[in-house]
Amino acid sequence: MAPLTIRTFLSRGFALSRVNASAKHQLNSLGGKCLYRYSVPVGTRSQSTITSTPIPEITDHFPNIRTHEDLYNLSVDQPEEFWGRLAKSRLQWQKEFTVVSESEVATGSFRWFPDGDLNVAVNCVDRHAALTPEKSALIWEKDEPGQEQHVTYRELLDMVCRLANVLLSEGVRKGDRVALYMPVCPMAVAAMLACARIGAIHSVVFAGFSKEALAARIRDASASVVITTDEGVRGGKVIPLKQTVDAAVKECRAVRRVLVAARTGAQVPMGPLDVSLEEAMASASSECPPATVGAEDFLFMLYTSGSTGKPKGIAHSSAGYLLYASVTHKHVFDYRPGDVFGCVADIGWITGHTYVVYGPLANGATTVLFESTPTYPDPGRYWETVERLRITQFYGAPTAIRLLIKHGDIWVHKYDRSSLRTLGSVGEPINHEAWHWYHTVVGNGNCTVVDTWWQTETGGIMLSPRPSAPDAPIAPAMPMRPMFGIRPILCDEKGRPVQGNDVSGALCIQSLWPGMARTVFGDHKRFMETYFNPYPGYYFSGDGGHRDADGFYHITGRMDDVINVTGHRLGTAEVEDAMTEHPSVAETAVVGFPHDVKGEGVYAFVTLKDNIEEEQAVVLDELKKITRTKIAAYAVPDVILVCPGLPKTRSGKIMRRLLRQIAANRADALGDVTTLADPSVVSLIVEKHRQQNQAK
Ligand code: PRX
Repeated sequence: MAPLTIRTFLSRGFALSRVNASAKHQLNSLGGKCLYRYSVPVGTRSQSTITSTPIPEITDHFPNIRTHEDLYNLSVDQPEEFWGRLAKSRLQWQKEFTVVSESEVATGSFRWFPDGDLNVAVNCVDRHAALTPEKSALIWEKDEPGQEQHVTYRELLDMVCRLANVLLSEGVRKGDRVALYMPVCPMAVAAMLACARIGAIHSVVFAGFSKEALAARIRDASASVVITTDEGVRGGKVIPLKQTVDAAVKECRAVRRVLVAARTGAQVPMGPLDVSLEEAMASASSECPPATVGAEDFLFMLYTSGSTGKPKGIAHSSAGYLLYASVTHKHVFDYRPGDVFGCVADIGWITGHTYVVYGPLANGATTVLFESTPTYPDPGRYWETVERLRITQFYGAPTAIRLLIKHGDIWVHKYDRSSLRTLGSVGEPINHEAWHWYHTVVGNGNCTVVDTWWQTETGGIMLSPRPSAPDAPIAPAMPMRPMFGIRPILCDEKGRPVQGNDVSGALCIQSLWPGMARTVFGDHKRFMETYFNPYPGYYFSGDGGHRDADGFYHITGRMDDVINVTGHRLGTAEVEDAMTEHPSVAETAVVGFPHDVKGEGVYAFVTLKDNIEEEQAVVLDELKKITRTKIAAYAVPDVILVCPGLPKTRSGKIMRRLLRQIAANRADALGDVTTLADPSVVSLIVEKHRQQNQAK
């Protein structure tokens, strides 16, 4: 297949465009038309109602665009026009770009606005601080309800500049990596933006990760500075963050400084590497000229699990990422000035990066930083927060919705949710029951519900029922439609796009988009092998998809050895690697199984060495502890089954398919097991699984 290359020059306006002929053919080969059967016929509506949120930068210049379908088609057929215009109107540039995209799938070189410069902190803070200094940029919804704290754009600018100056005084320079291990709080947002201001690359490590997971991520990024807080507080529990950092940095020689902010004010031991962040900021200047940052310079890296034991540092660009975050935030959620945007994700995940921090702040919004849990102090917490803060868009995870359903509607009905317009779901498939509850009970049937599909690697939302024609129906429990500029395809095992509707396949993306990840930090080969080599010419998501009879997309789940536990991605190999470090363990195989709250649970099949001295129950306890200390609490297996052996092919490969069936209580549908080296082991495992289930 010919490589997909788009090189577009913006010399006079947007006139000149060179698109490789075969690329154009590829881009056109799978028209998105079938997806928009519901568009109102040409001429029956005004420009402003073409799409669920108007996009005048485009429609004002293309009088022929009459429907949402036209607009979508323009976005995928002429991405240089679409993204170029939006990049000019929605971002503030230090040096304007003349080239929109210079990308080549074959080599994995993706460059958007490559000759432009812009500073992300200026885009997210300075320009709003100049226009609306007293507007709340952040509302910190602290763990204890009713203690929210507003941070205005003026105050945020002050924090960002002071913190940026502290980083500069610590010798952090453009391109250096800074690791953040912090709870959801304004200081964490300021730290991210301070890195952006000086052109440093931040690597936020979820503050639930263990010391070992943190150390591995600091080392992989060669971070020289770590920013943390004394402690964290979540659901009323205190989390000793500084203590974890102390233990981690002992194993990271590149770390020169640990900046410690006060969250609880606890007296934590301060060693030679440690400096109080507040004290350093108090004596730093509140002015910090923004660094000149190339559009393609990395803004951040964020680790995510893959099918090997080693998490990947996914690297994102500055301009392309920010543009995609801003455009998706506005158009998927129908964001309007004056709204209070409430994404309850932790900043340690991509959802927190894109829809707590960068998307909302790029749009000058008021964004909520939710520090607590869905059930603290009681299961009404989300809705009490919605009432108190008058939240207009609520964005959360199916796992939390399922948990809240169990507690009953009464917790929702207690509070006024009339401020809500959009309800979003992300991270895993939302089941029908959860979708309907979200729509009917939480939204009172009055809100637009958007099931949004995307990934750490995509930077922002890729599939979602909105944007679309304003009256286009929304089907329950599926992300349905591609975002502007996104052309999804489903591929068969031979890598060929599957045509027509009511078909399934590997979910790939045929177009290129500005928010896509640029590389795996320090390992471009792995980036190519994971995302571009499996289906040459396309981005492979790792997920399976189904296009229904109406042309709408539905996600069928991961196709690799990655599972999704409470909306968090976990490589089964990571859990296996951790458990096999136990001296009594011979071998393990970890699979996911359906879990009614978590989405997927972790099921570990384990074989033990002969003649072990410890009691089996003790070993199992230790295995749980190991996964907690090596990875995080969410990685602890829900089930550990000690087996006499694992089902292996004659070449020694573990047949995980069989283990998945057993874990899901589908042992009656195991199919052919005769290719196994020892088929008899299967019935032994099935029997053990049955006994363990009965004993529960
Ligand atoms: O399997 C898909 C699932 O989450 C994976 C991405 O995980 P992560 O990079 O941690 O990002 C999560 C937040 C964007 C995907 O490969 N996933 C995400 N959203 C959905 C989903 N599965 C089904 N439906 C969704 N809406």
